[in-house]
Amino acid sequence: MQLPRALAALCGALLLCASGLFAASGDFCDSSLCLNGGTCLVGQESDFHCLCPEGFTGLVCNETEKGPCFPNPCWNGAECQVIEGTHRGDVFTQYFCQCPQGFFGVHCETKCSTKLGMEGGAIADSQISASSVYIGFLGVQRWGPELARLHRTGIVNAWKASNHDSNPWIQVNLLRKMRVSGVVTQGASRAGRAEYLKTFKVAHSLDGRKFRFIQDERGSGDKEFEGNVDNNSLKFNMFSIPLEAQYVRLYPVSCHRECTLRFELLGCEIHGCSEPLGLKDNRIPDRRITASSTYKTWGLPAFAWYPHLARLDMQGKFNAWTAQSNTDSEWLQVDLGSEKQVTGIITQGARDFGHIQYVASYKVAYSNDGVKWTEYEEQGSSKVFIGNSDNYSHKKNVFETPFVARYVRVLPVTWHNRITLRLELLGC
Ligand SMILES: *[C@@H]1O[C@H](CO)[C@@H](O)[C@H](O)[C@H]1NC(C)=O
Ligand SMILES: *[C@@H]1O[C@H](CO)[C@@H](O)[C@H](O)[C@H]1NC(C)=O
Ligand SMILES: *[C@@H]1O[C@H](CO)[C@@H](O)[C@H](O)[C@H]1NC(C)=O
Repeated sequence: MQLPRALAALCGALLLCASGLFAASGDFCDSSLCLNGGTCLVGQESDFHCLCPEGFTGLVCNETEKGPCFPNPCWNGAECQVIEGTHRGDVFTQYFCQCPQGFFGVHCETKCSTKLGMEGGAIADSQISASSVYIGFLGVQRWGPELARLHRTGIVNAWKASNHDSNPWIQVNLLRKMRVSGVVTQGASRAGRAEYLKTFKVAHSLDGRKFRFIQDERGSGDKEFEGNVDNNSLKFNMFSIPLEAQYVRLYPVSCHRECTLRFELLGCEIHGCSEPLGLKDNRIPDRRITASSTYKTWGLPAFAWYPHLARLDMQGKFNAWTAQSNTDSEWLQVDLGSEKQVTGIITQGARDFGHIQYVASYKVAYSNDGVKWTEYEEQGSSKVFIGNSDNYSHKKNVFETPFVARYVRVLPVTWHNRITLRLELLGC
């Protein structure tokens, strides 16, 4: 038998074969059998194999070695870089995937650039704080940190520090260590004039006391990020290395007129399994979203609040699921199509002709066959999650003990007006 190709390649890389270690008989044969200066070694039986010089591979050294980067082993368009000087017996990593921003992992297989919830509301007001607040217009306009949400509308729609604050910052407490891969900033207009951050710094912390600034790649100190150019457009800045942090602070450095800011953080859960599972983006088809019942406004089928409408951020007049009755025996079910690890859930209410409706608290059950259900528990009893409190904010809850299941049910416990839900499940 000839040595399999992989072994032959290993052989070349480790320079062991030349010592006869892998050549069963250790005898040389007619090297004209091997091309490009390969050395012929007699195999176990009467066959042979070629020990190829650097740069060649193949059974008879007739193929040019293209290196470990061909075909590209990296995902998501990442660039593969050959690591020089690794043709040694103790180093097997021969390449390195240079991940595009927003991705990480050895092969850049994990995406980490979802909005962490400034815009959608998954980050609650209480998680946002600042060094100071500007109170304008005879004390009635409060430009508080909780307003600093991307795309926030209104006359007072952003954060601005007090004019007496010489070192202003705004901070998000993510409540647990997360991977933060970037920041999106936006200015605002105040009294009809554009105000925005031209440059800013980013600091991060695990405990909320000791903060470190992101450093410039060239080693010239704290990195200054480029900010905005007008009152409205978005500026994306991805960090060259994602942060692992619970607290993230933005420090304005230079501003146009005043330091007025709306923003969003981009990132993912540390364990990297928190991608939307397909409700919002329709990857889960309508037929896989079912419920205990469906409410029809004025009893009209044309005005039905079907389960398949229960998709996060669904638009339209009928843009959510509503249960027929207001009892805690109602449920909404998602069939994920196959078993998935489920790590979190985002819920949202809706409005029926002006009536604000939402689920204020709920439990979650899961199943692998759609018949036998297990209620999600924490500390030995069914966990009741805090749900929504208005008609549009995202409320995110994380499963401290992620579960693996194909079917997931939301079991409303309390609600406002009618049981109404829009939903996304997170996991991988
Ligand atoms: C190299 O030689 C082997 C065996 O002779 C043959 O199967 C293979 O196709 C050749 N490869 C190239 C690139 O010519
Ligand atoms: C703010 O931006 C909007 C849209 O980009 C533009 O129409 C408006 O004139 C801007 N306002 C100010 C005060 O710059
Ligand atoms: C309902 O949601 C819309 C956004 O979809 C928002 O503009 C409006 O203020 C909300 N109404 C209430 C009373 O919360």
